[in-house]
Amino acid sequence: MQVIKYMFQPHGDERGQLIALEEFNDIPFRIKRIYYMYDTVEGVRRGLHAHKSLEQILVCINGSCKVLLDNGKEKKVIPLEKPYEGLYIANDMWREMFDFSNDAVLLVLASEVYDESDYIRNYDEFFKMVNKDITI
Ligand code: TYD
Repeated sequence: MQVIKYMFQPHGDERGQLIALEEFNDIPFRIKRIYYMYDTVEGVRRGLHAHKSLEQILVCINGSCKVLLDNGKEKKVIPLEKPYEGLYIANDMWREMFDFSNDAVLLVLASEVYDESDYIRNYDEFFKMVNKDITI
C-alpha cells in the first residue's frame, strides 16, 4: 500500500509559522468541504468507514492521533503528529482514527460535500467490494 503524506511548506519567520493550502497547488483536488474534530474523548475510535468516491487530506493541526488505513488487502498505521503533515486518503479505503491526544484537532479537507450515500460503514461490505475480483 502506498501511503501519500504531504509535507506542507511552513512560511516561518521570527513571529512563528503559517501554512497555506491551495486547491490543486498543495491539495490534489477541489476542496468542497472542511471539517475538524476536537475534544475527542480518550480511547475513542472514529471513522470506521470507507468512501465510494470521496478523497480527503487529514492534518492534525494540534496534538496528535493515529490513522489506520486498510485497502482490504493490507493495513497500515500512520501517526499524525505535525501540523505540516497531510495524509491523503483516496476513495475505497477503510480508515480508523484513534489514540487522539487530549489537545488533538484533526482537520479534514474533502473533495465533496457531506453525502451519507457515499459512505460504506460496514466492513464486510467494504471487504467484498474491494476484493470482488478475487475468488477465495
Ligand atoms: P461521523 O461520520 O460519525 O464521524 P466519523 O466517521 O469521522 O467518526 O460524523 C459525526 C456526525 O457529524 C454525524 O451525525 C454526521 C455529522 N457530519 C456532518 O453533518 N457533516 C460532515 O461533513 C461530517 C463528516 C459529519
